[in-house]
Amino acid sequence: MLEDTSFAIHPGQEKKTNAVIYRDIGDLRSYKHTNNSYFFACENGFAAIQFFADSIIRIVMNQYHEPVLNGSYAVVAEKEHVSVESIEQDNLLMLKTEALIVEVKKVPFRITIFDQNGVVLLDEGNRGMAYRENGEVTAFKKMHADDHFYGFGEKSGHLDKRGEKYEMWNTDVYAPHNPETDPLYQSIPYFMTMRNGHAHGVFFDNTFRTKFNMKEKDGYFSFSAEGGQLDYYVMAGPGPKDVLMQYTHLTGRMPLPPKWALGYQQSRYSYESEKEVRELAKNFIERGIPVDVIHLDIHYMNGYRVFSFDKEKFPYPEKLISDLREMGIRIVPIVDPGVKKDVEYSIYQEGITNDLFCKYLEGDVYFGDVWPGRSAFPDFTDSNVRKWWGNKHKVYSKIGIEGIWNDMNEPAVFNETKTMDTSVMHRNDGRPATHRELHNIYGLKMAEATYDGMKEQLNGKRPFLLTRAGFAGIQRYGSVWTGDNRSFWEHLQMTLPMVMNLGISGVPFAGPDVGGFAHDTNAELLVRWMQVGAFTPYFRNHAAIGTVYQEPWQFGSENEFIMKKYIQMRYKWMPQLYTLFHDASVKGLPVMRPLFMEYPEDVKTYNLNDQFMVGDNVIIAPILAPSVTDRSVYLPRGYWTDFETGEVYTGGKVHLIHVELDQLPIFVKNGTAIMQGDWTSNKEKNPKQISMHVFAGIDDETYNCTFYDDDGETFEYEIGSFLQLTIGIKSSKDAVKVEIRDRQGKYVPAYDKIQVNVHGLSENQRVVLDNDDNSMVSLYK
Ligand code: GLC
Repeated sequence: MLEDTSFAIHPGQEKKTNAVIYRDIGDLRSYKHTNNSYFFACENGFAAIQFFADSIIRIVMNQYHEPVLNGSYAVVAEKEHVSVESIEQDNLLMLKTEALIVEVKKVPFRITIFDQNGVVLLDEGNRGMAYRENGEVTAFKKMHADDHFYGFGEKSGHLDKRGEKYEMWNTDVYAPHNPETDPLYQSIPYFMTMRNGHAHGVFFDNTFRTKFNMKEKDGYFSFSAEGGQLDYYVMAGPGPKDVLMQYTHLTGRMPLPPKWALGYQQSRYSYESEKEVRELAKNFIERGIPVDVIHLDIHYMNGYRVFSFDKEKFPYPEKLISDLREMGIRIVPIVDPGVKKDVEYSIYQEGITNDLFCKYLEGDVYFGDVWPGRSAFPDFTDSNVRKWWGNKHKVYSKIGIEGIWNDMNEPAVFNETKTMDTSVMHRNDGRPATHRELHNIYGLKMAEATYDGMKEQLNGKRPFLLTRAGFAGIQRYGSVWTGDNRSFWEHLQMTLPMVMNLGISGVPFAGPDVGGFAHDTNAELLVRWMQVGAFTPYFRNHAAIGTVYQEPWQFGSENEFIMKKYIQMRYKWMPQLYTLFHDASVKGLPVMRPLFMEYPEDVKTYNLNDQFMVGDNVIIAPILAPSVTDRSVYLPRGYWTDFETGEVYTGGKVHLIHVELDQLPIFVKNGTAIMQGDWTSNKEKNPKQISMHVFAGIDDETYNCTFYDDDGETFEYEIGSFLQLTIGIKSSKDAVKVEIRDRQGKYVPAYDKIQVNVHGLSENQRVVLDNDDNSMVSLYK
């Protein structure tokens, strides 16, 4: 293990790097176009430009033959009809849409993309599309002085990724996630660039191992793949929200989750018996701490055989599930892909008999070691296998389970490479390909199989899925937790940029193991992490085997009291959060977002790692270090009210805020509003009363907020059973006027009025509501 010691930096150890030889695509020889797709034959390869939508274009290079334009795993959108104006000059071909201008230089073949105002988004300069003898394909792009990069899915480190290098290769990483630990479990080969207040995005649609080098070298950054085509989409923005809407138009949006999945979830590797689970549930109820989910980690199974229960420790799972359900708690079991090699185990028998496992070209089944020992791996790239696997979930759905936790689906294997042999073949629905090519989509396809199977079995109820691995588009099936972090303050700090960048990468439903997975947590860390968890989109406390227990009551009553306050706060904020989740499901915008998403013109927000926004008007500024009770908070332009103290702060500057252990700084933008519900009992979580907290603006400001609600667990909303209100808040010198401007949908909730509380009125301001009662607005006129 000399590489792990200082020997690694012994003088003379520097690697002698051979110069890498790229072949440039060369000069354009000829081109043709059909139906908004332009095909170019160049000196050393082929390229295509496809106008996908007004503000999305696709560029493809293939060194061997004309680009193949179908077969994406990530892209679900159909190409739209786009009107393209084309102008040809000597060495140039200009292609214009409403939102983009593409300039193709013929000699050498270079593509420059401009926005509709003629401002360069992406340009190639002396270097363009290239490849190497070994099949690697690369795009070089000029790095601009003010470029800042975000996204890349699940990466450690800071928010702004300029200067970093990343790889996409789904990997099980138990080793501490430090700022340079890469790759992790998810591969989302996509980034968003912010430059002087404007944003554009690039999605590199390639499933091979891909690399992004955002460290400027000779004026360029680059992205490359080990194989396949250089196939990427450029999204024109112009704002960060536009880029996200464009990216999620391409790769799909999150299905609206059941409300219960937004609640607090308790997990541990593992609660090992029914008795322990019942005890745990009882503790929550008796202590009045809300909880929606208890997870069953691998110990619930019989010898880690998926789709089975340990008969001694979990003899009556159905009864356990229904009793817990009575208490308002659901069980979510873990399901890993590895199927134990055991000739007497029905799942293994079916897999072998019906030829459903991954195999080598020569026909041998691939075996790898995971929790159950020698295991075979279903080939999720095949639709028959997905169907079979999905159907197997009846074991769970028929006893009342509505949520599944997919783990180890990179797939993780306990060997040197941490995964399956790259030479294993996948059926790939009739287009066989190696694991080297399809590794990164194994988790995505497992998630698809699980989600679709559960959806079919739940008779109209919404399934919940939690997955560790994924690829671009994983949001179509479920939520993501950020894997095996540790109970370190640094990992609490890392949670913020990591979850924000996942949100920018189209995955709005994400969160860390609150409290930290490995390593022993401690009271202060757990309390501070719970405060953050209460506002991260996914909220689960999970800890590893052998570490101290970290349920909210494990550190004495004072700490329990604080944690209870924040878990309850999560429920009070549920109407607001659920509206944001709905927004995410229709527009792709994240629930938890960086400040620059709302204030793109404010460069001070570009690498703000220790604050985040919930929606467009709330800033959370948690404490992320031990013994700290004062912190600086940056508030962008406008006025902001401290949600707890009511104190008003002027934006555009930094404030020093005092924060005791039981406090979490929450700032709401003046002139806007948030929705709150009440929390009555664990069993009855739907609020009977909705309150709207309006924070008075000064003059002539209008804020339109949407409020969304539905039954929270079925798909009835798809056929009109929802409530969507557009509420206008108009602050002027003498009044704050609140009115329901529009109501959509036919869902009838338990409340028929909204209690309006206006905060921070000036002496001359009065409240004007659109009905007689001065504290309520009615849903129905
Ligand atoms: C992996 C998961 C972790 C889980 C454990 C046992 O380490 O990341 O969450 O508890 O496996 O299943």
